[in-house]
Amino acid sequence: MAPPSSEEPAAASAEASAAGAISKVLVVIAMQTEALPLVTRFQLVEAAADESIFPKGAPWTRYHGEYKGLHIDLVWPGKDPLLGVDSVGTVSAALVTYASIQLLKPDLIINAGTAGGFKAKGAGIGDVFLASDVAFHDRRIPIPVFDSYGIGARKTFETPNIVKELNLKVGKLSTGDSLDMSPHDESAILSNEATVKDMEGAAVAYVADLFSTPAIFVKAVTDIVDGEKPTAEEFLQNLISVTMALDQAVLQVVDFISGKCISDL
Ligand code: ADE
Repeated sequence: MAPPSSEEPAAASAEASAAGAISKVLVVIAMQTEALPLVTRFQLVEAAADESIFPKGAPWTRYHGEYKGLHIDLVWPGKDPLLGVDSVGTVSAALVTYASIQLLKPDLIINAGTAGGFKAKGAGIGDVFLASDVAFHDRRIPIPVFDSYGIGARKTFETPNIVKELNLKVGKLSTGDSLDMSPHDESAILSNEATVKDMEGAAVAYVADLFSTPAIFVKAVTDIVDGEKPTAEEFLQNLISVTMALDQAVLQVVDFISGKCISDL
């Protein structure tokens, strides 16, 4: 067989990583509805049972493939084994992120998903935000220092060139394990100065930071938290259409990343 020419993807990928370019991207997504358009977009394939990297019994699902010189792994926490719904929230997100970092050693994590947005902070349905900061809004521990640990505020990995190039909105993200918003959550979200609210971001950021893996957060707004409509109704109504906007934004981010070094982002 002839040696591969420099035009071939494998050779291009090897050349790029030799020059310090990003080669392995891990996409962490909570819901199947959010994940499947990206699986199709990047022509990823589901890891077969015999190539599963995750421990037996975990519902976590991995899709993988090559795209423009990048190896992409997309993971979602799968369906709850008892109830059959998507395993949304911080616990499942942290677990699948932890296992994926250990086993896949990504150069970069993209946590993509839907979020509630605050119109008072400039969010509208279908807007896509890149989170500049993340924090929790439902971990209240009123003891000195534990209070800050509970909030877990941190800056995300800075990507000034992605922001400039892709024209995405930038805002702070607040994470909690509820779709709705209690009065306690509301005051914590206000004090976190959040523009968007989700159920996974700060948990993914915590794990990514533990293992020094750069992570970025792409969040598309399905519902207006400070609007008139009931959150769950508005979320379900907009989920499919907003997922298309999310898909488009993640595609643009991945296209931008292709061939670049972490320091170019
Ligand atoms: N995901 C989509 N909308 C959300 C909301 N209002 N709160 C938390 N996560 C969400």
